Amino acid sequence: MSGRENGFVPGLEGVVAAQTRLSHVDGGAGELIVAGFPVEELARRATFEEVVYLLWHDALPDVRELADLRGALARWRPLPRATLELLRAAASEGTPPMDALRMAASTASLRDRDASVNGDTAREDALAVVARFPTIVAAYRRLLDGEEPVDPDPRLGHAANYLYMLNGEVPGQGSVRALETYLNTVADHGLNASTFAARVIVSTRSDLVSAVVGALGALKGPLHGGAPGPALDVVFEIGEARRAEAVLREKLERGERLMGFGHRVYKVRDPRADVLGTAAELLYATDGDEALYELALEVERAAVALLSEHKPGRNLQTNVEFYTALLLHGLGLPTELFTLTFAVGRVAGWTAHCFEQLERGRLIRPQSEYVGERDREWVPSEGR
Ligand code: ACO
Repeated sequence: MSGRENGFVPGLEGVVAAQTRLSHVDGGAGELIVAGFPVEELARRATFEEVVYLLWHDALPDVRELADLRGALARWRPLPRATLELLRAAASEGTPPMDALRMAASTASLRDRDASVNGDTAREDALAVVARFPTIVAAYRRLLDGEEPVDPDPRLGHAANYLYMLNGEVPGQGSVRALETYLNTVADHGLNASTFAARVIVSTRSDLVSAVVGALGALKGPLHGGAPGPALDVVFEIGEARRAEAVLREKLERGERLMGFGHRVYKVRDPRADVLGTAAELLYATDGDEALYELALEVERAAVALLSEHKPGRNLQTNVEFYTALLLHGLGLPTELFTLTFAVGRVAGWTAHCFEQLERGRLIRPQSEYVGERDREWVPSEGR
């Protein structure tokens, strides 16, 4: 007996492996609820700090609680000297940015005594990774460009600090709101591969930093968080709307996947694509390249039509990555930082899932179906 008859579900599709209060993905209806709020509302209205608090505490913060969290993040945001030295060494070797983030994330275990929250290691780990991810990404980007890192400004919020540390200039309100909308939109998304990886690690009662480093490894792959860069590359490669169909058709005929389309759970348009599409439209209309936005719409239309012809009945629709690419490009972020910026948002969800797993979860230990040989005869090495 093999396959589904034996309980084996390839890719664990449809398997419910955890209960969560953090987010709910309804793939048929195209809905995403984050801790009780439709993603459309949370993305548009909340600050990223409010979303972090909501995910960690299952309630929105009052004024004092929010100020406390902002203060704690500000204290944890600067990087320890060893982390900066590691980033300098990585930049001098030309290490890919996602690998540099993974290595630097491990150093979140380094403790700054001033920032300590009463020896609550899990809480400190969570604050360290959430607070430091933007500092690491921005510092690394500048080091790669041969520039010195910019220290965080304690007066600025999380999203504003990220742009400030990247560019060395206090960003405008429109850019901050667009980035905040993005970070809120990707903060949590059910039991996706990286979140599951984090929960598996912490289910052994391992620490949160280990869980987050494992999650980064899962996020890095092109089938998960690695898609937005390639999605934008395709839009640039197409260049003019009239070429969209021919270029995309050729890719499909060569057996390539169209990045930014298709999803394991959503069988309709990913609701996050709408949220980010609207944010991108606003951003491009005010200080962006409106022609690029129009071209992306044409590419999306052509891709969805071709995919329905290529895989009839599969309902391959636009996913979050397509408009992520457009929005982050509009914010001036280089493509090699797209997946890292995804991590800046998703680390909120990873840490919240770790808390939930530590509070209520059991060791995650599924089984495998053995499909190998039996009764093999042992042959000594000289006789093989
Ligand atoms: N382009 C072309 N064909 C596709 C695409 C695509 N974007 N997506 C799925 N297909 C095809 C597959 O080749 C497969 O065909 P087959 O049955 O003949 O082998 C069929 O549709 C089903 O695909 P699966 O891989 O079984 O779907 P799965 O649920 O495992 O994968 C995934 C979902 C990985 C997102 C897939 O749609 C894909 O590769 N998309 C492109 C990459 C991408 O955009 N990733 C970001 C996802 S969102 C996120 O993680 C944040």
